[in-house]
Amino acid sequence: MSVAAIILAAGKGTRMRSKRAKVLHELGGEPMIARAIRAAAALEPEPIVIVVGHQAREVEAAVSFSRARFALQEPQRGTGDAARCGLGRIPMGFTGDVLIAYGDMPAITPATLRAFLEAHRKRGAKLSLISIILDDPAAYGRVIRDGGGKVEKIVEFRDASPAERAIKEINTGFYLVDAALLRSALAELKPGNAQGEYYLTDIVAIARARGESEKVEAWVATDPAEFAGINSREELANMEAEIRAAVNRKLMQSGVTLVDPACTYISEQAEIAPDCVIGPNVQIIGMCKLGEGVRIDGTAWLSNVTIGPRCHLKLGVRAEDCVIGEESEIGPFANLRAGTELAGHNRIGNFVETKKARLGRGTKASHLSYLGDATIGADTNVGCGVITVNYDGYDKHQTVIGDRCMVGCDTQLVAPVKVGSDVFVASGTTIVREVSDGSLVMSHHPQREKAGWMAAWRKRHGDSPDGSLRRSKDHQD
Ligand code: UD1
Ligand code: CA
Repeated sequence: MSVAAIILAAGKGTRMRSKRAKVLHELGGEPMIARAIRAAAALEPEPIVIVVGHQAREVEAAVSFSRARFALQEPQRGTGDAARCGLGRIPMGFTGDVLIAYGDMPAITPATLRAFLEAHRKRGAKLSLISIILDDPAAYGRVIRDGGGKVEKIVEFRDASPAERAIKEINTGFYLVDAALLRSALAELKPGNAQGEYYLTDIVAIARARGESEKVEAWVATDPAEFAGINSREELANMEAEIRAAVNRKLMQSGVTLVDPACTYISEQAEIAPDCVIGPNVQIIGMCKLGEGVRIDGTAWLSNVTIGPRCHLKLGVRAEDCVIGEESEIGPFANLRAGTELAGHNRIGNFVETKKARLGRGTKASHLSYLGDATIGADTNVGCGVITVNYDGYDKHQTVIGDRCMVGCDTQLVAPVKVGSDVFVASGTTIVREVSDGSLVMSHHPQREKAGWMAAWRKRHGDSPDGSLRRSKDHQD
């Protein structure tokens, strides 16, 4: 039995007060719709159709990671109309069940959807919906059951009588519907309601009217929190805080120290080994992996970074799309840009920027450097202020440095250029040509000296030979 999925995401989300489509607002570092798609993907649906409308192009771009197809709903005439648009992208020959879900319900879990599918199949239902019981059922659609407890219909709050409004069982908006039933029921929808919209919810009464052949079920879920929709920025921030707290709790239970969980922001995809210690104000975004015993002192922004065991990240590290090998020491104040690969036992010190830089084991750059488009061997020391001159205004060029080199302070390497192994680069050298193994290389300017020059300079400025006039003037300022 196969499953297809339709995710409704055409609405603007007026209460967000945003130019951006609601489903593009981010939760845990990704557009909220990504979470809805991941949850739906647990049922292995084929195809997954996303109904887009408001900012359709942007939404399509944001979820390009998925194998989803898109259906454009323009104008947006209600959830039934949206489902009809989505169904149009599912092949006519498809005969399984169609999952219908919302792009703005990011808290739903794969486990719940799997349990829902199992119940739907076990009961032999043609149409199932997930309902929940709420103390305050607010403005949700109400699930109306007959005397025998069987689901009769869904009534929207705006169309409900006082007696119906008193019902606490509400429609969450998740459905599993036999494809043939869905096709025929959607064709019968009419916009004769308070909002003049095509209500997807009306398919429940339509199916019921056909009698026992179209079995309808409401599966009562136990955790209402999973069905929280996002309608405002406040709800977005609250859900963000809940997701973060859950991630942190799980990590602490697994043996990770969070010095202050309230200001530690870790994505759900991150894998953090036991005995890591994470200081305050740390953001770990996307697919990061931290090996055992990694220490992050505080104030760090890490996105898609793999960090080997026992590394120490000192205050102020920014690292993106890179690999930091075991027992490396990074920072304070280091910027590791995309494509940085440190083999292990490296040291990247303060005010060092790396980009597409591969450093061999034990190689160090401790102070004030830019290493871009560079490959450096093992056990090389990159002195203070060393710069790879990688960009000529049009193209980027490679710098290659071998093993066991001493690259003196304030060296510029004008790429493309290659320095062999066991090379000693004198400080202040500008390297423009290949240097062979074992050499000393230097490009010192001759040092010149003019004795007594300073006193004359001061005199020309009306100062005394020891500069005391100017110094006393400075004190008056
Ligand atoms: C809907 C249900 C209601 C249920 C509630 C749960 C209907 C008629 N009502 O109401 O029973 O209790 O969800 O949250 O279905 N969308 C489109 N195109 C449209 C309209 C909506 O893609 O033309 C999308 C929205 O982007 C949103 C979802 O469908 O993701 C739900 O739409 P919304 O207008 O919020 O439905 P509710 O009024 O909340
Ligand atoms: Ca809603």
